[in-house]
Amino acid sequence: MTAVAFDPFDAEFRRNPHPIYDQIRAEEPVCFTPLGFVVLTRYDDVVHTLRSNDFSRDIEKNAILPQTPTREFRRKSVRNRSMLNLDPPDHTRLRSLVSKSFTPSAIERLRPRVQQLVDAALHSARQSGHLELIEEFAFPVPFQVISELLDMPTDRADELREWSQIITATLEFTTGVAELEKAQVAIAKMRPYLDEIISRRRKNLGNDMLSSLISVEERGERLTNDELMAFVILLYIAGHETTVNLIGNSMHALLTHPRQFAQMKAQGCSSQMVDELLRFDGPVQHTMRTPVVDTAIQVDGRPVKIKRGSLVLASLGAGNHDPSIFERPHVLDFSRKNANRHLSFSAGVHYCLGASLAKLEAEVMLSSLVKSFDKIEALADPEWRDRLTIRGVTRYELSVQPLISTR
Ligand code: HEM
Repeated sequence: MTAVAFDPFDAEFRRNPHPIYDQIRAEEPVCFTPLGFVVLTRYDDVVHTLRSNDFSRDIEKNAILPQTPTREFRRKSVRNRSMLNLDPPDHTRLRSLVSKSFTPSAIERLRPRVQQLVDAALHSARQSGHLELIEEFAFPVPFQVISELLDMPTDRADELREWSQIITATLEFTTGVAELEKAQVAIAKMRPYLDEIISRRRKNLGNDMLSSLISVEERGERLTNDELMAFVILLYIAGHETTVNLIGNSMHALLTHPRQFAQMKAQGCSSQMVDELLRFDGPVQHTMRTPVVDTAIQVDGRPVKIKRGSLVLASLGAGNHDPSIFERPHVLDFSRKNANRHLSFSAGVHYCLGASLAKLEAEVMLSSLVKSFDKIEALADPEWRDRLTIRGVTRYELSVQPLISTR
């Protein structure tokens, strides 16, 4: 076992995981941790795990783990029925129901509306010279976009956001039964609210994504009420809880890298820049799989065995900083040719369904933000959410000096 600890309970590691990732990758790339799971940090191993049929995403069904109260809780959760937690063919069936709404061309049609929302969100900062990045910008735009896609009311945005945050907190290793109980309560509050929206929509179907999911169910295909609910919760939460962090993390990266900031200000935010920002500090740091057969990964020419049913953590963040793939990995470099090979949207069948949407939102939001103001300065260091799985800034006070009109 390595002398380097992968310790999700260590606050310093959560704050800056890269020194530990680097050390584990160099010393024990297939790392058996004292917590009983295996950590993969090399790019190729992470990609192999995510693409291979030998690894399952359905941890609750296929992992062989001690039965703790935490596991029992997770097993019962409605979210386990979401496609993110299922393997083919169930996963394939559910994903095909919504994938047409997320094709790059379908998403591109949203660009003018995203731009409109961005302009509205920046309006008061233009007057006041001040922007709290997360509350006033990074959250409201993606939240409104996903709400409109699902045709969800936004009147209870604050409550929904709070419930979503409580639910996503359970993705962390450090989650205890108390947090799981809180999440159960949050889901219990969210459910009747969503039930009501779904039953209203059932009587009055429209062109939105929720209506098409309901229609599928009503055509007698096997989308149960639980699946529909899990689907809506997944889309809703994934639709805003991740993009908000991409904007926060990216602005922090830009404000600490003045040359890259100047380049974006001059050229606007390109798709390649978003890829590099995703690689540099992505919102989702890792994901889990379990092998369904005994398997092995080669390290220095010898196989390191991983038993069927083990819990395997594929570190997307560590893969994104693997120097064998990305030269000078800890440098933010918009000219990096292979930035689009980043793993921040995962790989294989669970590759992020909302990737095109997230990238479009980031392009429009970051371009508009850096170009709308003469000067943007941080008034204080950003506050970070103390989490490892979903990494992000929670508060970032900026001073924004409006452009002086030449007209
Ligand atoms: C920067 C923003 C985003 C990041 C970094 C991100 C990241 C990810 C990752 C890493 C996964 C796969 C996890 C795994 O393999 O276990 C995933 C799956 C998924 N994401 Fe995203 N996501 C983002 C935005 C979005 C948006 C905007 C939506 C929807 C509107 C979305 C919807 C989904 C869905 C539905 C899945 C499940 C796909 C499947 O299981 O086939 N994501 N995302």
